[in-house]
Amino acid sequence: MQFASRLDNVSTSAIRELFKLLGKPGIISFAGGFPDAALFDVDGLREASEAALAENPGLALQYGATEGFDPLRAQIAHFMDGKGVDVAPDGLIVTTGSQQALDLIGKTLISPGDKVIVEGPTFLATIQCFRLYGADLVSAPVDGEGVRVDELERLIVQHKPKLVYLIPTFGNPSGATLNAERRRRVLELAVKYGTLIVEDDPYGDLYFDKAPPPSIMALSKDVPGSREHLVYCGSLSKVLSPGLRIGWMIGPAELLAKSVMCKQFSDAHTSTFAQVTAANYLATGRMPDTLAKVRAVYAKRRDVMDAALRRELGDAITFTRPDGGLFFWVSLTGANGALADAAVLARQAIEQGVAFVPGAPFFAENPDNSTLRLSFATADEAKIEDGIRRLGVALRQSVGG
Ligand SMILES: Cc1ncc(COP(=O)(O)O)c(C=O)c1O
Repeated sequence: MQFASRLDNVSTSAIRELFKLLGKPGIISFAGGFPDAALFDVDGLREASEAALAENPGLALQYGATEGFDPLRAQIAHFMDGKGVDVAPDGLIVTTGSQQALDLIGKTLISPGDKVIVEGPTFLATIQCFRLYGADLVSAPVDGEGVRVDELERLIVQHKPKLVYLIPTFGNPSGATLNAERRRRVLELAVKYGTLIVEDDPYGDLYFDKAPPPSIMALSKDVPGSREHLVYCGSLSKVLSPGLRIGWMIGPAELLAKSVMCKQFSDAHTSTFAQVTAANYLATGRMPDTLAKVRAVYAKRRDVMDAALRRELGDAITFTRPDGGLFFWVSLTGANGALADAAVLARQAIEQGVAFVPGAPFFAENPDNSTLRLSFATADEAKIEDGIRRLGVALRQSVGG
C-alpha cells in the first residue's frame, strides 16, 4: 500500500514491541502506564451509568454536541475550580481522552517543520502524535524539579517554537514535579516570548504526601497576560477509568473553536453515554473519596518500591522518589559503568520474569540509554517486592556478578 508520507515520521513504538514479550506466564510487569483496575469505583460507575439510561435514555444514546455534554462541562469546570482554575463550562471542550486533546493540538497548530519543545524525557504518544503532523521536536532537559527553565528559555530564544509541551506534575515518565518557582518562570517566559504552553495534567490529582504546587494554569492569575498563552489538558483516566475515555481541553476560544471543527472530522463527539455517566458520577460527589482511596494505595506501593529499589539495586542506580503519579524514573549510574544500557537489562529482566520499559524511546532527541521507567501502579506490594528482587538478580547477572 502507498501510505501517506506523514507516516514516514513515525514508527511502531519500541514499547509496543516489548509488550509482546509480556505474555510470558508469571511475569511481573512494571512496564505499563495503566491504573490498577482493582481500584475502579465499579459501584459508583454502575449507579452513574444506570442513571444515564434510567433518566433520559434518548439523550444518553443519541448524537451530541461536539463541544461536549453541557452538564459534564459544568461538572469539569467545578472540578477545575477546586484546583484553582477559573473556567466557565463553555471555556472547555470534552475530548475522547486527553490523548485526543493532544491530537487536536497537533492537528490545529503544527505544520510540517514547525519546532515544538518537549521535555526530555516526555510522553511517548505525544512524540509520535506531534511528529505525525511534521513537528521538529526539540528536547528540553528535566531534573528532579521538572524542566530546567534556564535551558527552556535558551531553547525558546533559539528555536521560536510553535508551542512548548510540558507534563509539570508527576511527569510521565520522569515522575518529576516542576516546583512553584519554575512554574511562575514558565508563565513569565510565555508572556515574554508570546509562546504557547501546553500543560498536560493527567496525574496532578494522584499525590501522596501533600498536594503538588497549583497547576501552571491556576498560577496564571499571578502573571498578567499569561492565561491567553496557555492550554490545559485534563483526564479522568488515571483517577477514575481510562475506559470511559473522558478528557478535556481548556484554552483560548479560537483554539477551542478550531479544535471542535477538527474533532468533527474524526469522532463527531465523545461518547454521549460515557459523558452522561461521567457527569452523573461527578455530580454524586464520590470523587473525593475515590481520590483518597487511590492515593492511599499508590502511596503504599510507591513506598514499597522505593525501599525495595534501595535494598536490591542499591548504588547501581539513582532515582528521585516521586511524590505522586505512577512512575519511578531510574538511571543506571553505578556498577562502574558496566551496566549503562537499560535495553540490555530489560532483556535479562524478562528472563528473570520481570518487565519494565527502557527510557530511551521517551526522548525526542539525545536518548539516554541508561534510563528506565518502572510503574508501581498495577502490581500489589508483594509483587513489587518480588519483582524488584528479580530485577536485582537480572542486574547482577548483566554485570556478571
Ligand atoms: C502524560 C500523559 N498524557 C496523556 C495521556 C493520555 O491519557 P488519556 O487519553 O487516557 O486521557 C497519558 C496516558 O498515559 C499520559 O501519560
